[in-house]
Amino acid sequence: MARQIVSFTALCGLLLSLSGCNSMESAGNSMTADKSLYDRLGGKPAITAVVDDFVGRVAADSRINGRFATTDIPRLKMLLVEQICQASGGPCTYTGRNMKAAHAGMGVSSADFDALVGNLIATLNKFKVPEREKNELLGALGPMKSDIVEKPIASMR
Ligand code: HEM
Repeated sequence: MARQIVSFTALCGLLLSLSGCNSMESAGNSMTADKSLYDRLGGKPAITAVVDDFVGRVAADSRINGRFATTDIPRLKMLLVEQICQASGGPCTYTGRNMKAAHAGMGVSSADFDALVGNLIATLNKFKVPEREKNELLGALGPMKSDIVEKPIASMR
């Protein structure tokens, strides 16, 4: 229970200037454990804020930003929001390509993947997303690695 309150308080930080973190929800925080990951993350406004910050970090990361030189970034952000929304149990339908098709032929390495996930972790930490939600989200993305990475061995980078 105490942990749930801590989680909820931390999430309110994430939602500070966004909707969905009012005192009524605060009064009902005993329900937190039963909510979908989507709801616990703070719904679409919070996911959109996370994706914005995350893509900003990727764009500034010289290890991997070259990959996105010709990418339509607003479209990518929209698809990432849809994907995370759907994967976390939210009311969205992902309309992009599957992960294998989207990354085919790019030669993404395991190091590239880890760099990208590192940026996501930095974003989640910045927004003080609690450990449980962080682990669930990363746990939903982890299995995609085998469809995205084409060069799993470091020396192949
Ligand atoms: C869990 C990890 C990842 C997820 C969830 C993810 C998700 C996505 C999604 C949803 C798209 C859009 C698909 C579409 O165009 O229909 C996309 C495109 C793209 N991804 Fe990833 N991705 C991941 C890892 C990576 C990594 C590690 C790289 C390279 C460093 C990468 C590079 C790209 C690029 C360059 C595009 C745009 C392709 C284009 O411009 O058409 N992705 N990704």
